[in-house]
Amino acid sequence: MPKNTINSVSVVGLGYVGLPTAALLTRAGYKVRGIDVNQDIIDCLNRGECPLGEKEVAEIVVEALHSGNFEASLTPTTADAFVICVPTPVRGDKSPDLSMVRAAIRATAPVVQRGALVILESTSPIGTTRNVIAAELAAAGLDPEKDVDVCYCPERVFPGATVREILNNDRVVGGLTQGAAERAKLFYESFCNGVPVTTTAENAEYSKLMENTFRDVNIALANVFARIAEGAGVDVQEVIMLANRHPRVNVHTPGPGVGGHCIPVDPWFLIDAAPAASRLLLDSRNINDGQAEWLLNRAEASKLPRGGKVAILGAAYRGDLDDARESPTENLLSALEERGYKWSLHDPFVTKINLHGGAEVSVHSELSVVLRDADAAFIMTDHSAYRALSVEAFEVMKERLIIDGRRMLHKNSFLEAGFTVIGTGAPTSESIEGLDVEQKAAHLKVVSSNS
Ligand SMILES: NC(=O)c1ccc[n+]([C@@H]2O[C@H](COP(=O)([O-])OP(=O)(O)OC[C@H]3O[C@@H](n4cnc5c(N)ncnc54)[C@H](O)[C@@H]3O)[C@@H](O)[C@H]2O)c1
Repeated sequence: MPKNTINSVSVVGLGYVGLPTAALLTRAGYKVRGIDVNQDIIDCLNRGECPLGEKEVAEIVVEALHSGNFEASLTPTTADAFVICVPTPVRGDKSPDLSMVRAAIRATAPVVQRGALVILESTSPIGTTRNVIAAELAAAGLDPEKDVDVCYCPERVFPGATVREILNNDRVVGGLTQGAAERAKLFYESFCNGVPVTTTAENAEYSKLMENTFRDVNIALANVFARIAEGAGVDVQEVIMLANRHPRVNVHTPGPGVGGHCIPVDPWFLIDAAPAASRLLLDSRNINDGQAEWLLNRAEASKLPRGGKVAILGAAYRGDLDDARESPTENLLSALEERGYKWSLHDPFVTKINLHGGAEVSVHSELSVVLRDADAAFIMTDHSAYRALSVEAFEVMKERLIIDGRRMLHKNSFLEAGFTVIGTGAPTSESIEGLDVEQKAAHLKVVSSNS
């Protein structure tokens, strides 16, 4: 039975993925060095603090720092294994930007010794492990198939459940050689409970891109179903519920778009590699990126005056998270800026967000400040706090128009209070204030499933 021969690990890139991974490796008994180019992160860790807000992550990071077996540094040193978790964004033209992967392995290669295990975890285009990681190791004088074991092992964590998911998700372990994959499998088995499945590096790279592209395309399909429902005068939520009673159908949830570090980015790696074959992926990206503007168009077709004041509820890309990366709210802000609106933004967790042009803007934490005198309120994030909002919270608005991108509110009470409500996948529902009892009952019967 082969044994895991690794004692020391260098984790390169201490962000949402690398830092909890480093902490879990420390907990599993490894001597861990975390490397990052960001001085603030290193300083924070060296003060004994965790730069990330997620509670379970902060706990294991602080535990690792106190163990004496985890140190953070700007400079790599030699280790038995190297795990690279640096960002892999797309450029402005949506082509993959692998500069950080290249820089990370270039800085690391000089301290990689014969016999080391080198694993890339960053989500990457097919061929990156071979063409960037192995190529840089070769340039440093190592044979990537004989002197070192080189692998690709994508991370699949769901922010908010990072620790649980690193520990329990199955892993796809792709080696440049079968021996490398088997060695990495033993390594993952030593600190994770999920099943590591071995394959080639290219298969592993593609599997990760396929997973996130599957999500993107299915969400785009749900958004198309929502758009059709709006025009047909039916409620997509009710229809999805009916369709999903089919044993082999699972229609996703429509909304104001797709956000986060992964789903809006990763399909571009496939589109870039095979544009002619990936028309469906491109359309899906455009549909999801266009959802926020779609909502704005519906608001304008209702009663939002061009150039008016818009309140936005939610900067985070997902509910109850403090992560605004690639949030659909960025797309809404771009459309509002382009059309000359005044806007202000609320979020209970996020304090700043970047506009597409790069400028950083502040996010308010006081909801009434954002809603005051607004012509319309857009609900963009499914924070639990928004679900509990009642009519009273919106009384300070100038015009009673709510665009419920996430279908969070109890619609009927808003209609009764004189609001017009536009929900994703539901026909626009005008106020029923002033109708007599029978008219109200008839109206609410029609829209009851939207609430
Ligand atoms: N965040 C997620 O939920 C998630 C999930 C699955 C996969 N991924 C993938 O994992 C990778 C990392 O994502 P993340 O969310 O942890 O990113 P992140 O931005 O949170 O962290 C990356 C860290 O790498 C550091 N870095 C950049 N260049 C470096 C270099 N040359 N040397 C050392 N450090 C460097 C940055 O300073 C940063 O601290 C990406 O490819 C991402 O797509 C992320």
